[in-house]
Amino acid sequence: MKIIGITASPREKGNTATLIQKSLDAAAAKGAETEYINLSKLTIHPCKGCNYCKAHDTCVQKDDFASVAEKIVSADGILMGSPVYFFDITAQAKIFIDRLYACVDSAFKSRVPPGKKIGFIYSQNTPDRNAFGAHLDKYNQVAGMLGIAAVGKFVSVGDVSANPAEIDGAVEIAEKLF
Ligand SMILES: Cc1cc2nc3c(=O)[nH]c(=O)nc-3n(C[C@H](O)[C@H](O)[C@H](O)COP(=O)(O)O)c2cc1C
Repeated sequence: MKIIGITASPREKGNTATLIQKSLDAAAAKGAETEYINLSKLTIHPCKGCNYCKAHDTCVQKDDFASVAEKIVSADGILMGSPVYFFDITAQAKIFIDRLYACVDSAFKSRVPPGKKIGFIYSQNTPDRNAFGAHLDKYNQVAGMLGIAAVGKFVSVGDVSANPAEIDGAVEIAEKLF
């Protein structure tokens, strides 16, 4: 059982990083092999919309996207984490998601092997955890296009170091990946 955790916050020790890392720790304690990926440390350019990936089974751009795509292919479970920036995911997360276009073929059939699960972890300041639900839930559809089953999301509120109980919600999502 391999679970990868992807964070799309520019803050290396921020809330999203903590939530993902603690969730991976919990998954490791249950026997999973885990890997933490910080998109901000990688060079992943925006999708060019060139459709090279529809005529070939890979993206034309030779940057760090391919290594993350390979990790998705080898994982059983994925935790995708992003802070909320202006009611939605961060630019880093959106750029990464757009590049996943290379993981569907010209008939929009997924190139990702079936049987994988994904859970979403979000971090925001607004106390209402449902405030941005309409914006965030659409990423379940992205997972659906890739044939990856979405197990749910947890929206964490505020500074995790001041509210460590927030970690429990993220860990619950990680446990659904088993
Ligand atoms: C550019 C920017 C935009 C933000 N927009 C929102 C927002 O729309 N709603 C919200 O609740 N919090 C918003 N926040 C607060 C962050 O979501 C919050 O601080 C989050 O915990 C940061 O996560 P991190 O520590 O993992 O980077 C914003 C923060 C920044 C820097």
